[in-house]
Amino acid sequence: MSNKTIKIIDGDTEAEFPLMEGSEGPATINISSLYSELGYFTYDPGFMSTASCQSTITYIDGDKGILRYRGYDIEDLAENCTFLEVAFLLLYGDLPDASELTGFEDHITHHTLINENLKDLFSSFYHDSHPMAVMTGVVGSLSAFYHDEIDIHDPFDRDLAAVRLIAKLPTIAAACFRRLRGEPFVYPRNDLDYSSNFLRMMFAQPTADYEPDPIMAKAIDLLFILHADHEQNASTSTVRLVGSSGTNPFAAVAAGIASLWGPAHGGANEAVLNMLTEIGSVRNIPKYIDRAKDKDDPFRLMGFGHRVYKNHDPRATIIRKTCHEVLAKLGDHGDAQLQLELELAMKLEEIALQDEYFVERKLYPNVDFYSGIIYRALGIPTNMFTVMFAIARTTGWIAHWIEMISDPNLRIGRPRQLYTGPTERVFKPANDR
Ligand code: ACO
Repeated sequence: MSNKTIKIIDGDTEAEFPLMEGSEGPATINISSLYSELGYFTYDPGFMSTASCQSTITYIDGDKGILRYRGYDIEDLAENCTFLEVAFLLLYGDLPDASELTGFEDHITHHTLINENLKDLFSSFYHDSHPMAVMTGVVGSLSAFYHDEIDIHDPFDRDLAAVRLIAKLPTIAAACFRRLRGEPFVYPRNDLDYSSNFLRMMFAQPTADYEPDPIMAKAIDLLFILHADHEQNASTSTVRLVGSSGTNPFAAVAAGIASLWGPAHGGANEAVLNMLTEIGSVRNIPKYIDRAKDKDDPFRLMGFGHRVYKNHDPRATIIRKTCHEVLAKLGDHGDAQLQLELELAMKLEEIALQDEYFVERKLYPNVDFYSGIIYRALGIPTNMFTVMFAIARTTGWIAHWIEMISDPNLRIGRPRQLYTGPTERVFKPANDR
């Protein structure tokens, strides 16, 4: 905490507010006593200049294109770690040593099964349900299985909830995929790593052996690492706000999934692929660029722009490379439609990056611009893309939930408002209106 203060002068009254310095990033004015001292609220729709909490988990410098988990550059983690190593880092603050990693992997592996009764829940959804709708419902229902076992004030219980969520999300996601296709569930296998296990639960058939492809498993693991956390985005802030009331973590994470679903957030990867299909051919790109620039047209270039990154999204750079590698390795086995989508994406990126509208507004491709193409190449259908994001982000959500609940100064999140509705009105009974 610095000794600096920021003074606000309001006519004859003045008040000073402490300036809080983090380890990096802009200093923050602590205005929590603004209302009691000056009688004002602050107004900041979309939280453009508001820090909602203090956190030690993830740091982003959007102008420089920096993303770090617990101080480590995303490039280093993506290059050298497995997803579970990164999950350990996010949860406990340090990278695990070899025995800690083995212990953590073992712990996760032994919580991948879901209660048999939970399986029945999948059958009750409409056959055409969106997988994110099913995920929101099923993850929320975990509270019904574990609520009584959880004392959110007990660090052991909090840790167990974290492990359960990280372990069960891939099983639930795969079960959701299989159920909606009318295919049988595939149980997790303890000898497989996190991502290979997920691939097997998604694609194995009871009628044949299935060996997960190591290239596919590595690509999935990388995507999970890149999506694992992103500080106070909409879904993480949702988990924090919901969790601040003291509700159980399964309910809070279900709320995070609901928030992630929106096309301005995690739903963007699905929207990118739908957009590429709609554009259809390179010659149609200029028409769609014009539409994106037209203020009277709601169309936006999906996968472009970010609230925080105004230089480049470092995750997009990593993923772009992997996208080319995965498609190159699929070679002749890759489908022509995918190659076309990749070409279309590259051309769209090239044209948009030269266009004054996008340059001026610093609209660069974000992580979702390429992730959908990789998922498609791996055989994951479009409506499952946001589910993939949810599996990865569950680790970030739960790390933030633990950080928040462990804070002795935790208070329920309760924003205020600028009321602009009617002032007091005279009530009239229905017959007199
Ligand atoms: N296409 C066309 N114009 C855009 C786009 C886009 N994708 N994104 C922003 N703009 C324009 C806006 O119209 C606005 O123009 P103006 O200044 O002339 O009014 C300007 O750029 C600033 O945009 P805002 O919407 O104010 O920026 P904000 O920070 O609120 O939104 C967001 C960021 C939601 C990501 C936005 O860029 C967008 O909708 N992108 C497309 C959806 C997407 O890819 N989302 C994924 C984000 S990454 C993630 O969640 C993992």
